[in-house]
Amino acid sequence: MTRPKILITRPWPQAAEDDLRRRYDVTVNTAGPLDRSALIQAMHDYDALCATVTDKLDAEVFATPDARVKMIGNFGVGFEHIDIAAAKAAGIRVSNTPDVLTDATADIALLLMLMTSRRAGEGERQLRAGGWKGWGTTHLMGQSLQGKTLGLIGFGRIGQATAHRAHTALGMKIAYHNRRRVDAEIEGPLGATYVDTADELIKTADVLSLHCPGGAETRHLINAERLKTMKPTAILINTARGSVVHEGDLAQALRDGVIAAAGLDVYEAEPTVHPDLLGLENAVLLPHLGSATVETRVKMGLRVCANIDRFFAGEPLLDPVA
Ligand code: DGY
Repeated sequence: MTRPKILITRPWPQAAEDDLRRRYDVTVNTAGPLDRSALIQAMHDYDALCATVTDKLDAEVFATPDARVKMIGNFGVGFEHIDIAAAKAAGIRVSNTPDVLTDATADIALLLMLMTSRRAGEGERQLRAGGWKGWGTTHLMGQSLQGKTLGLIGFGRIGQATAHRAHTALGMKIAYHNRRRVDAEIEGPLGATYVDTADELIKTADVLSLHCPGGAETRHLINAERLKTMKPTAILINTARGSVVHEGDLAQALRDGVIAAAGLDVYEAEPTVHPDLLGLENAVLLPHLGSATVETRVKMGLRVCANIDRFFAGEPLLDPVA
């Protein structure tokens, strides 16, 4: 029996690629992100795609006539880059990789909180540039996080894991806004307070961390108008999706001291970063590292494999999004 043909659109850690190769005829694209015409070609050539965040799978790609692809296993939890309605209309199944990257992403949110509040990026740049004049009583003073309020917009797996770390390791108070209030068993150990509206949370948080999905509903949720309502000492953290923050408005707010600092791991038009952010000392900018540990990336690949296996066995997907 011929084995299904599968394209991995960006290389995975070896262990995960090897697992897929055991059961399928696998091709790995090593030539960088695929453009639309390459994705359309792939829709013709393969039975399934193992795609990821850099593959823009829009309505035009799903409208490929006589497409052979029937399953897309997304390597990643977010799927803003996939037009889910168009996939459904084309009868193509889509899965993602929740759970396995929760801890790694929460770690990066915490890293950004510490780097921004303790001015770590600024200090490192100063030292490497030869600008450090020695220990000083008022040198690069940051803010303590202990007892401060971490406000989380979005309180799913990653939001909760971030809250847990901030509460237990840093002694922060937890407040959150979410589409729905979570159970008392989750709130209780964190002493978490549910805030009815995002606007109220934005006004009161000392650190505001974004954990909501990208998409039309959350696009530019953080804009000039809302930034003005934040505390001047507030710090914004974004490990969710770049589209949630208006980058130009954020750069202006950081420059004008409307808020104190921002720590970003995701951007509106990756890999492009708004040029005004690049020169700001109070912005910590990471290159989308949320899930970037060897352990996590292997688990993500294996989770895609589990979904692909179920699809070809005619079983329900483990993590269906379409
Ligand atoms: C995710 O899993 O969504 C990460 O942002 C990488 O795509």
